[in-house]
Parts: sequence; C-alpha cells; structure tokens
Amino acid sequence: LRAQKIEARLSKLMLCGSTLRRVAEVFEKEIEAGLRQQPSSLQMENTYVPELPDGTEEGSFLALDLGGTNFRVLFLELKAGQLLREKVKHYHINDALRLGPGEDLFNFLADCVQDFLVSQSMEKETFSLGFTFSFPMRQHSISSGELITWTKSFNCGGMDGVDVAALLQRCLSARSLDVTVRVLLNDTTGTLVAGAHIDRNVGIGVILGTGSNGCYMERASRVLHWERPHSAVHDVCIDIEWGAFGDNGCLDFLRTEFDDEVDAKSLLVASFTFEKYIGGKYLGDLLTFTLSALARDGLFPADPNFRKLQTSHVSLFEEESCAGEVSRTLSALREACNSDLLSTADALVAQYVAHVISNRAAQLVSVCISTLLKRMDRPYVAVAVDGSVFKHHPRIAKLMNKYIALLAPAHQFSLMIAEDGSGKGSALTAAIAARMATRGV
Ligand code: BG6
Ligand code: GLC
Repeated sequence: LRAQKIEARLSKLMLCGSTLRRVAEVFEKEIEAGLRQQPSSLQMENTYVPELPDGTEEGSFLALDLGGTNFRVLFLELKAGQLLREKVKHYHINDALRLGPGEDLFNFLADCVQDFLVSQSMEKETFSLGFTFSFPMRQHSISSGELITWTKSFNCGGMDGVDVAALLQRCLSARSLDVTVRVLLNDTTGTLVAGAHIDRNVGIGVILGTGSNGCYMERASRVLHWERPHSAVHDVCIDIEWGAFGDNGCLDFLRTEFDDEVDAKSLLVASFTFEKYIGGKYLGDLLTFTLSALARDGLFPADPNFRKLQTSHVSLFEEESCAGEVSRTLSALREACNSDLLSTADALVAQYVAHVISNRAAQLVSVCISTLLKRMDRPYVAVAVDGSVFKHHPRIAKLMNKYIALLAPAHQFSLMIAEDGSGKGSALTAAIAARMATRGV
C-alpha cells in the first residue's frame, strides 16, 4: 500500500511516450522560432564557428575554461591536428568572486593566467587564447559577445552589455601579458570541436554536468542572426541554451511541485527551468525535496533536509540499486536526516526516487538529442558529451541510449565521451580561427 501511494505521489515525474513526443514538438517549434529571431525560450545563438577540425591545426595556445565545476587555465600545443603537449592548472573561485562585481572576477581570471604563465616560465611569450565561457551569450563574432544572464552558481554584478572577451583582454593587458583573446566559446561548442577532432562524424555537442546544454551544426541558410559576411559559410555551430527551454511557460505541463521547490530555493529563481530538471547542480535538491514531501505525507520516516542530499547521492543510490545493495544508501540517509529510524525499506524508497528523477533527466535530454538527430538528418551522427553527471552517474548513458533510440528510431547515433572537451576544443577553435583568418573568412 505504501509503495502504491508513493508511486501515485511521484506520478508526475514519470513521463510517458506521448508526453515526451509533446516535449519534442514544442522543442522543435522553439528551435525554429529561435533561429528566426522570433520569441522563443531557446537562444539558438550563432557561435560563428563554421568548420570543425580537419587535422591541420597547429600552434601553441592558452585556454581558459570557466563555468563548470572547475576553473582551469590550460596550455596546449598542437601539431598536424594532434595534441603534443598539455599543461593544466586548476584554480578555486570563491563565493565572493562568483557573486561579487564582474570586474573582480575577470581580474582574478587574469591573475590566474599570469600565475600559470609564471609557473611555466612563459610569462614573456606571445599567445593566442581561447576563452570557454560556459554561459549564454549574444555573440557578435567568433571572438566577441556579451553575457545574457548568469546561470548555475554565478551571479556577478555590473556585466550588462559588457563584452566578456574584451573585458578579459583588458585585464590581461593591464598585467602586461602578451596574450590575445582569439576565440570566445561555450563549453558545448568546445566539446563538439574536441569530439570532431576524434571522430569526423561528430555533429552535436552536449554538456550534462552542473548545467545542461547542447549545440549542433546547422545549415547557415537557416540562421537569421549574422553580423558578419557569411556567403562562404555552409554550416555553423548553434549554441541552443536548452537550459532555458520552457522559461516562457511552454513546458509548464511538465512542472511538478518538487520542481517548484528546487526553483524557489535556487540562486536564480524562474530562470533556466529545464536545466533544473537535468543539471547536476539540482538533482540532489530534487531528491531531497521529493523525499521531504513524502515525509510530510507520512510516506517516509524522516526529512533529509537536515543535511541535504547531493547529486553524488543520486549516483550512489543508483549505483547501489544496480548492485542490489542498500548499506551506503542507508548510512547517507541517516546522516542527511539526522535520524536512526530509517530501515532497509526506506533506503529502497530513496533509491526508487533517485531512479525516477534520473530517468526523467535522461528522458528530457534524450528528447533534445533525438530532435536534433531528426533535424540534421545525416546517415550517422556521433554526439560528443561531457560533464560530471554524464561521467559519474552509473545509469545515465544507458538510459539515454535507450530513449534516443526510441524517440529517433530511424537515426543512427552514438554517444561519445569527450572528456575535458572544452579546454582542448578551445585551443582547436583558436587554431581554426587562425586558419580562417589566413583565408580571409
Ligand atoms: C568539462 C568542460 O569537462 O565539463 C567544462 O571542460 C564544462 O568547460 C564541464 O563546463 C561541464 O561539466 P561540470 O560537471 O564541471 O559542470
Ligand atoms: C548553462 C549555461 C550554458 C552551458 C551549460 C553547461 O546552461 O547557460 O551556456 O553550456 O550550463 O555548462
């Protein structure tokens, strides 16, 4: 009886085939509207990246990767398209920087570049830099663009109308570094480019990490927003920004009371709602608030809001459930609820909830990918994926393979992990930009 009541309580989180098809239809409509610059919750941003690596990429580059779990400075050396040498240094961005004035954040980024170069004794050298800025942007070219809105755990002030590449450049030049920001790109674009470097069939880049987003190669003739001559451009990479899908209300039929709570307690309320169904920043909250709701209804013995469950717990519960175990689930729950009342049966309930929310995340991201596969209509498309949820969740890739195949049965695809894609992708894109410049593109 308890199981039935729980299932009924969670039923809105379980999406059937017809709901998924409805989401896909809305997604397709929003894509079209976004490309035509009509009102849409999808940004469909032109990244001005018109070609993918062709194996001729050469040179030494710096890359900055900001917006995921880690902020990194990278040095990469490419020869004939191959990565010869790579050096990486991670830096911590504290809350004051993530939530303070934008100038402070960008000065910190430049300090890190300087520290990195000094640590490598390269501070006197000349470099081109690729800046992976994993936030929605309005791009004016491959090397310029403004932030549209902060997402995930950043919310710096004073950034309205500021070109982030120009601001970074100013901060670097103020430190007398001979470093030029050559490309500005999103992490999905970096992942796509890095993936295409490994497999020429890659046409879609996906991030399933703290946040979630995708990009793909679109026919240039279908894109309305161009601020550069583009008669020679056949395809161009479009940054969809699907995290914001539904922010105009078009997906309200999906939203549950648990999602309302996640949103209400997030840093940026009423923004990037779709991302809050999928992203690693939110899955732990979703698990916590769903179990809290069950506790309020007397269907769970304690409230895990004492020390909230994390997204890593979603992965752990799924991992134990696959293995038919409960011990670590039980101790995590006892800690989160600050209670010894929980039993094995309760641990199984928590595993069930973790599975329901993981399954929904996989379904929703699969709707997006399958819609793109249909749109691109190629014989076979490899999808380059990166991000902590994709890497650490034990079931997500399997579930995505299942749902994409169900939703786009006539389309051949594969999901390919492009680990640390955006760092490498950033250097490769800088090399592509240099190649284009020599051709006058
Ligand atoms: C990384 C990329 O590997 O994946 C980052 O290089 C990106 O730029 C990240 O943002 C996404 O994953 P997460 O889980 O760190 O948000
Ligand atoms: C957020 C950002 C987006 C990024 C994604 C994954 O959705 O807005 O630009 O690609 O997170 O990091």
